[in-house]
Amino acid sequence: MALQRAPLIIAGFVAAGATVGCGGDASRVADDFDPGPTPFEFIAGETMYTGSCATCHGTNGTGTTTGPPLVHKIYEPSHHADAAFHRSVQLGVVAHHWQFGPMAPVEGLPPEQVDRIIAYVRWLQRQAGIS
Ligand code: HEC
Repeated sequence: MALQRAPLIIAGFVAAGATVGCGGDASRVADDFDPGPTPFEFIAGETMYTGSCATCHGTNGTGTTTGPPLVHKIYEPSHHADAAFHRSVQLGVVAHHWQFGPMAPVEGLPPEQVDRIIAYVRWLQRQAGIS
């Protein structure tokens, strides 16, 4: 059920990408990107991100060999709004921007916790000059 809805969502992103142009690797943040100390309000989100997302999306959102960097121009709010993060966690992602393969849904994260993770990732993006 969940996966049957994914192609529609993906089609929307591809269409959006065609209009605004998806960033290439040129806009990728460096692996040693240092956002500085995490402000208190984002620490809960950081902890959840570290537990559920960092194995693939990397410490500080810089990406790994199993997942893309979330601190990247294509994931800025105007291109991947917060709803895209909620959908990714709930339904998973069909591989479309990269060569990493699909992302499986992440179990056990209620929307309030995903909101915290998003707030943390948006902070990382702002620290990298992406907003
Ligand atoms: C097992 C590896 C893995 C884990 C864990 C993981 N992801 Fe992903 N994620 C991926 C891969 C791979 C993609 C890229 C799919 C593509 O676009 O090609 C991705 C893509 C995304 C996207 C982009 C979606 C889109 O529409 O383009 C978001 C947002 C995202 N992940 C958020 C998260 C969050 C938040 C977590 C933690 C709750 C998380 N991911 C955990 C592997 C992972």
